[in-house]
Amino acid sequence: MDVLLSRDEIATAVARIGQQITKDYAGQSILLLGVLKGACMFLSDLARKIELNATFDFIAVRSYGAQKESGGEVQLIKDVTTPLHGQHIILVEDILDTGLTLTFLKKTLMAHQPKSLKIAALLDKPSRRKADIQADYVGFQIPDKFVVGYGLDHAERFRNLPDICVLNEGE
Ligand code: IMP
Ligand code: MG
Repeated sequence: MDVLLSRDEIATAVARIGQQITKDYAGQSILLLGVLKGACMFLSDLARKIELNATFDFIAVRSYGAQKESGGEVQLIKDVTTPLHGQHIILVEDILDTGLTLTFLKKTLMAHQPKSLKIAALLDKPSRRKADIQADYVGFQIPDKFVVGYGLDHAERFRNLPDICVLNEGE
């Protein structure tokens, strides 16, 4: 597989986002809310680059299944376990593609009346967007290619690759 983003490039981008968040939320506590399973690596590396009081929680959604295309429907399959009311939430996602997942999550989470809600997405594929949504913190904008590694999967495989690679047709 061809490497699109090396582990060093990823680490540099994650450190940059961590510094920005540290600045933007100076003096405040934040909740890092990871979207399972894809964001697990990004959240764990990002959290260590943030110098603030931070707590973690996780949610899980189902959107893609074994296919490479979104079914358009998003379902919450694991909810948060901590109260969100009055918290500064940073929703941590692996990739912003059509935007349907994050649009659904934003709406669901806003119903809990957090103090604020921002989105950190490691990857952004703007050319694929179907919903009007943007991330507040983005690692990389990438072309319309299906990528795996660093948490991202195809049919649950390849999440453990340390680099982000392009999955070619037939693989
Ligand atoms: P969206 O709802 O279309 O924005 O899709 C977001 C979700 O689709 C992400 O959390 C990923 O799980 C998955 N996804 C989108 N593009 C890719 C990709 O290139 N590789 C792996 N998963 C992807
Ligand atoms: Mg995902």
